[in-house]
Amino acid sequence: MGARGATRTLLVMTRADVPNVTVSVDDAATISGAAPSGEPVFAVDGVTVAYQGIPAIADVTFDVKANAITALIGPSGCGKSTLLRSFNRMNDLIVGAKVEGLIEYHGVDLYGQGVDPVEVRRRIGMVFQKPNPFPKSIYDNVAFGPRLRRNRRGLDEIVERALTRAALWDEVKDKLKESAFALSGGQQQRLCIARCLAVEPDVLLMDEPCSALDPIATARIEDLMEELRQDVTILIVTHNMQQAARTSEMTAFITTDVGDDGSRVGRLVEYAETGTIFTTPTDSRTEGYVTGRFG
Ligand SMILES: Nc1ncnc2c1ncn2[C@@H]1O[C@H](COP(=O)(O)OP(=O)(O)OP(=O)(O)O)[C@@H](O)[C@H]1O
Ligand SMILES: [Mg+2]
Repeated sequence: MGARGATRTLLVMTRADVPNVTVSVDDAATISGAAPSGEPVFAVDGVTVAYQGIPAIADVTFDVKANAITALIGPSGCGKSTLLRSFNRMNDLIVGAKVEGLIEYHGVDLYGQGVDPVEVRRRIGMVFQKPNPFPKSIYDNVAFGPRLRRNRRGLDEIVERALTRAALWDEVKDKLKESAFALSGGQQQRLCIARCLAVEPDVLLMDEPCSALDPIATARIEDLMEELRQDVTILIVTHNMQQAARTSEMTAFITTDVGDDGSRVGRLVEYAETGTIFTTPTDSRTEGYVTGRFG
């Protein structure tokens, strides 16, 4: 069975199956290495996300490259978080939200029948603007996902590996039983990243992960992203143009279109290599935004 076939098998599970499912690290590695270079992790085709029937972002079409960092930029309210949430079915949890169009993940329709949203969110982890550790110890935060998956064997090793990959191990190895809330904001954010990594995701969605952090903590997260991109595909929403330029390989610029009737909807204006977006964009709206004249 090809790698794509393996992905399909793993994704097509009913919710009831999930407690019995064990996806080994080897499987996850196969999947993350599954997309030959050039083959997208996500193929987004004509995606519209609406709240209560009113589109917030409309007709988005683009491919997300494997093992690359893709930045989503654009003015406040243009629909960046809305679009990001559609990549791991987090919009399913918002009453009144509806996703239309096609998002293929390694060739599988993410919203297709039989695709289990819980398994989707394990493979496609999310880090939010405000660090959101659970009210538990550092250890228990990282062990949370593996325990849910009944993955108890070698838990100490899993926790150590995830914290090491998140560049936090040295700072916390002597206080694993302490509350996660005792950590600094930057450490809490790295802990949330470690919590995602503990279940071996293929993709990390990051929604303004550094906006609450100082420049030193921000630099640590950016270094970490650079390391993780070896085996994880990263999508990051950021308002920080320098951050988008520093970290990403591809950039998508989204903006709000205002109709004659005053209706507002987010649209993907331009998607290209980051260098192009920041130096020679095609669309004047992109240029206006990246040069700070708009938005
Ligand atoms: N849960 C929701 N219910 C209804 N409307 C929503 C909801 N979440 C977002 N919206 C609307 O969708 C549009 C896009 O919001 P979204 O949060 O995706 O923008 P954003 O680009 O992430 O903005 P910011 O940069 O400020 O975070 C906005 O008009 C917002 O009011
Ligand atoms: Mg947002």
